[in-house]
Amino acid sequence: MKSKRTHTCGALRKEHAGQSVVLMGWVDRRRDHGGVIFIDLRDRYGKTQIVFNPENEAVYQTAKTLRGEFVIAVKGQVAIRPEGMANEALATGEIEVIADECEVLNPAKTPPFEIIDNIEVSEELRLKYRYLDLRRPSMQSNLLLRHRLYQVVRRYFDENGFVEVETPMLMKSTPEGARDYLVPSRLHKGKFYALPQSPQTYKQILMVAGFDRYFQIVKCFRDEDLRADRQPEFTQIDVEMSFVDADDVLSMVEGLMQRVMKDIKSVDIDTPFPRLSYEEAMEKYGSDKPDLRFGAQLVDISDFVRASEFRVFREVLENHGAVKGLRVPGGAKYSRKRIDELTEFVKEFGAKGLVAIKIGEADWDSGLAKFFDEGLRRKITSAFGAEAGDLLLIIADERERTNVVLGNLRNRLAREENWIPEGQYHFSWVVDFPLLEYDEEEQRYVARHHPFTSPMEEDVHLMDSAPEKVRAKAYDLVLNGYEIAGGSIRIHKRELQNKMFSLLKISPEEAERKFGFLLEAFEYGAPPHGGIAFGFDRLAMILAGRQSIRDVIAFPKTNSALSLMDGAPSEVDERQLQELGIKIIDP
Ligand code: AMO
Repeated sequence: MKSKRTHTCGALRKEHAGQSVVLMGWVDRRRDHGGVIFIDLRDRYGKTQIVFNPENEAVYQTAKTLRGEFVIAVKGQVAIRPEGMANEALATGEIEVIADECEVLNPAKTPPFEIIDNIEVSEELRLKYRYLDLRRPSMQSNLLLRHRLYQVVRRYFDENGFVEVETPMLMKSTPEGARDYLVPSRLHKGKFYALPQSPQTYKQILMVAGFDRYFQIVKCFRDEDLRADRQPEFTQIDVEMSFVDADDVLSMVEGLMQRVMKDIKSVDIDTPFPRLSYEEAMEKYGSDKPDLRFGAQLVDISDFVRASEFRVFREVLENHGAVKGLRVPGGAKYSRKRIDELTEFVKEFGAKGLVAIKIGEADWDSGLAKFFDEGLRRKITSAFGAEAGDLLLIIADERERTNVVLGNLRNRLAREENWIPEGQYHFSWVVDFPLLEYDEEEQRYVARHHPFTSPMEEDVHLMDSAPEKVRAKAYDLVLNGYEIAGGSIRIHKRELQNKMFSLLKISPEEAERKFGFLLEAFEYGAPPHGGIAFGFDRLAMILAGRQSIRDVIAFPKTNSALSLMDGAPSEVDERQLQELGIKIIDP
């Protein structure tokens, strides 16, 4: 058959009846129906039913040899399906193609799993045969969504005067705080490039260079522990703007999110997004990326329990800790086993234990009741807004740990108790982050964001006396409990930068060695500037309704940073190592 493809497998409709067409694609399913053979032919556009009648001997014999995933070309006539045989679930369901000729373009081995959605196979197998996995309709639609997301983002930034600039992949280490992926230099033996953890320093230099508004959809590399929403190489939408304050960056991003939600999900969202301070987020939700699709706020009962007879609580409070909890509506029916499970769970996050109080019809249904007088019991119950049949889950520990443990418990309960409404997108900003955090191991302050993040003007005076109290001009965008973007207004003045380095115990020599080029650039007229970067994969994941960013990345790595399909990382030739001047020490 020398003909070219005339239509895709998703194109034909009633109006095409009577036309001669040529389709090409993969054999999805073959059904033998008493003499007639039916095949669903598949490509990324859809499926079309092909009919092979025994009267056409040649084509019928070929049809008998077809198996799943064979690649074939079919020439035939479009016919309206007989009365009652239309398939409404299929866009092409009103027609079929009666085959005149059929050519096998390529046979296929039996695939290790079926090319359908909802398969029950390990992710390892899917990743090893990623080309088959990507043939499945849901994976195709994930990558198509990702494609549309690139286009919407580019269009939006272009319309707003942003310039897309590519920055180097072989660069000097950036200060994002993860471990670098290193690339040895052949020409300069013993020296290494780092792959970018982000284009942070370059985008700031582009502001010095006068580009005013920059964006880039860019790969970033971080050698860190992996999770469902983390990959060693991932994609950012990276943004930087000159002569702006935080509000300008935030509203530009809100506009982008509005556009994305409209164009990709046909959903209208309101702006401006709610803003929470970091402290409020931690106190109310126990997370710096709170999922605000549901309430279930943490309740602080420290002030009440101070007066109780319960030693565990009192001791924590005497040590300046906190006693806080969560209400589980209807949780009084929890079994001992369930509560033990939750206790184990909170221990994983460092809690010493979990206090569970069941609320009965008249009063607490709990052995702890005797430690609290009746008035106190009533006060605590009402602080939680609890009713008969509810359960109170309480943690007493250092304030920060109490919050974090309860935050994790809140997320787990939300999943298990179905507190999360379907189909909602809840955007919020978390702002007023602390500029620094204390690193116990290194015995020094480290930048929470990165060392170029500007402190708030009104807090600069605290940099010497109370560094932990200084807030940063930094912001994170949170969507449904995921941090999807983070950024800051930068320090653009040398003195303040020096002060920051000295707080971080980065010596002038070290600063010079690591970021000398950036500091030098700042001496040639740096505009005030700031920006943000999105986790593109995370955004795509949420829009696609998936739980793992691996589902929206064509060729992702496993949790142990392996590429199962091509086997990276792998050993290299001895000759390559020699050229690089590298000797492998037995691990
Ligand atoms: P940050 O380190 O917060 O900021 O990164 C920005 C966003 O990138 C996403 N992200 C990741 N996604 C997948 N896998 C990973 N390993 C991973 N690490 C981060 C997150 C995060 O919000 N240069 C600064 C931005 C700036 O200040 O402008 C930066 O990279 O969604």
